[in-house]
Amino acid sequence: MTRLPLQLSPSILASDFTRLGDEVAGAERGGADFIHVDVMDGHFVPNISIGIPVVASLKRVVRVPLDVHLMIESPDRYIEAFVHAGAAIVIVHVEACPHLHRTIQLIKHVGAKAGVALNPATPVHSLEEIAGDVDQVLVMTVNPGFGGQTFIPRSESKVRAMRELLDRSGNPSCPIEVDGGIDLTTAARIVTAGASILVAGSAIFGTGNPEKATRELRAAALGNPAPALRQ
Ligand code: DX5
Ligand code: ZN
Repeated sequence: MTRLPLQLSPSILASDFTRLGDEVAGAERGGADFIHVDVMDGHFVPNISIGIPVVASLKRVVRVPLDVHLMIESPDRYIEAFVHAGAAIVIVHVEACPHLHRTIQLIKHVGAKAGVALNPATPVHSLEEIAGDVDQVLVMTVNPGFGGQTFIPRSESKVRAMRELLDRSGNPSCPIEVDGGIDLTTAARIVTAGASILVAGSAIFGTGNPEKATRELRAAALGNPAPALRQ
């Protein structure tokens, strides 16, 4: 099984938006590899969050690439605007894209990396025909729409199966990202299953110290938990 370097993508959904610049700066000092931006439209998911102007503001202050997760219907209509605003990776949901191949080509054409996300109920084989064309796969480990939910344990076998699909499709360098309920207790096991990019909202911005929390999450994901967690 392919092993890729561990990368962390703190999700600003759990941050204090009145202090967004300071929040992301803390995560970057702690070693964040990306900043994850959750875009929700109130249709594809039952919640509304943030959009293009926030990506543009972040782009001015964040040094690491912006990882933009579109939980929206008809994402093709907005892809170019998000990339223009500063998205380095654009992730669309398989369930929202009837012409997924075309959508992936569009993301690449406008200059971003193309990621595809799968809801917990969406099978691995839904990517069978496209696994060789994607730059990143996001396996949702909760149902999308809200931060602070509980990790779905079945995600471990799903990540393993997704890693096998990508490897056998000739795409061994494509990372698997996981999103939802990732914290000090779940990180190591999902990395062992084959995930290499960890999204975390509450576990980083819900702590009051994103710098320290980012460091601790990396240590835990690599199997070196902070002393307080050791038994
Ligand atoms: C959920 C979002 C996540 C969310 C994760 O729909 O896609 O990125 O911010 O939040 P936590 O880490 O709190 O589960
Ligand atoms: Zn997300």
